[in-house]
Amino acid sequence: MKISVVGTGYVGLVSGACLAAKGHTVTCVDINPQRVEDINNGIPPIHEDGLPELMAEHVGTSLKATGDLREAVMDSSASLIAVGTPYKGDEIDLQYIRAVATQIGEVLADKDGYHVVIVKSTVVPGTTEDVVLPLLEEASGKKAGVDFGVGMNPEFLREGVAIPDFMDPDRIVMGGIDDATLAVMAEMYAPFTDVDKMTTTPRTAEMIKYTANSLLATLISFANEIGNISSAVGVDVIEVMKGVHLDHRFNPILDDGGRLNPSFLSYVMAGPGFGGSCFPKDVKALVAHGKARGSFPHVLDAVIEVNERQPSRMVDLLAGHVADLAGTNVSVLGCAFKPGTDDVRESPSIPIIKALVDAGANVTVHDPIALDGIRPDFGDTISYTTDLDEALADTAAVMVVTTWPEYKALPEKVAAMAAQPVVIDGRRMYAPDQFENYEGIGR
Ligand SMILES: NC(=O)c1ccc[n+]([C@@H]2O[C@H](COP(=O)([O-])OP(=O)(O)OC[C@H]3O[C@@H](n4cnc5c(N)ncnc54)[C@H](O)[C@@H]3O)[C@@H](O)[C@H]2O)c1
Repeated sequence: MKISVVGTGYVGLVSGACLAAKGHTVTCVDINPQRVEDINNGIPPIHEDGLPELMAEHVGTSLKATGDLREAVMDSSASLIAVGTPYKGDEIDLQYIRAVATQIGEVLADKDGYHVVIVKSTVVPGTTEDVVLPLLEEASGKKAGVDFGVGMNPEFLREGVAIPDFMDPDRIVMGGIDDATLAVMAEMYAPFTDVDKMTTTPRTAEMIKYTANSLLATLISFANEIGNISSAVGVDVIEVMKGVHLDHRFNPILDDGGRLNPSFLSYVMAGPGFGGSCFPKDVKALVAHGKARGSFPHVLDAVIEVNERQPSRMVDLLAGHVADLAGTNVSVLGCAFKPGTDDVRESPSIPIIKALVDAGANVTVHDPIALDGIRPDFGDTISYTTDLDEALADTAAVMVVTTWPEYKALPEKVAAMAAQPVVIDGRRMYAPDQFENYEGIGR
């Protein structure tokens, strides 16, 4: 099947490369000419394990990029829209979605056959049918459900493991306005076998995505709240959660007597707060969307509030050890919002670094791949390094924000230092007795 994918970010490019790997012929479209050139030269514009190999195998044969949306839509039978949907302070920002819907509609005016337009971006419930569909009809002068199809197919991949997530997903949710649209989506996903596939309406598909992300974000804020209360009452959240996780309803016993250890339990653990390009903006967008429709989301409102306060907990822990941060050398380990990605959008490292800079600390940030993402925010007010030893040299405090695997070596590296820094463990990666001066979040 010939597919065009509009937007070549984390979702668009990964979807395009994986659909090509599954046997489809894919044309990726982007307005950023550098991205188009990079993709056609086999250079991934984002960091994602496995993506360079997939591109090496398929670019030039079943995968290409172009800036020419008309050509891509004309030469495909379905178009995926995978452009960004940021939150603009009071509601979701649909400007990129609107622009692409109009552009695709203009092409559909001249195209024969039942082309199907599928929204893959995360959009608030109603967007596909109430915003995208009318724009397609207006720009094409044609009728949805008669001349072309419209669908919604939320994406659940996680950055850092995006390729395996896309190739072997937990579920595929397909929302379509009619059977013809659903048939095209079924054809697109036919090579994905052994996976739960669910067909529904576009509106429900949109709501499923928000509900899934909101639930995970709620688990994190819940765990952070429990962590903060644990600190206040003098217990360790690690032990508290261990006792909670042993509940058979959360962690069933397997036939061989072992535990299932479902991965969702990793969300029920205290940390510096959630970040990334999805959870913060998606929960905020759903809260705003619910409020605008007369349904006040009390729990989700609190999920955001708890999360926005959480990074300052890290700085409070440090302040307990260093009375005056002015002129103090502080190393921040990790600025990516999670390991395995170069994405720093809404990373808790950003408010932490900002608070340290505001307090006059000399901040050095270490990250193996994500430093470029924070340079625009901090310029020369901080130092940057990809060398962990350089980050630790002469530091009085180490704040661990991202669980990069190389940070497992921190105890030995710190032990070898002449003056022992205080380690603020935002991810509870270490046992407290691994350091002379240790603070862990939720302890
Ligand atoms: N990043 C994730 O982990 C993830 C996971 C699931 C869902 N999503 C959702 O997927 C959508 C895309 O997210 P992302 O992180 O891939 O975004 P991104 O910001 O990484 O990429 C968006 C791309 O769209 C391009 N673009 C913008 N306007 C365009 C236009 N008119 N024509 C062609 N290209 C255009 C941009 O140049 C950019 O390359 C969002 O709605 C997001 O919420 C993201």
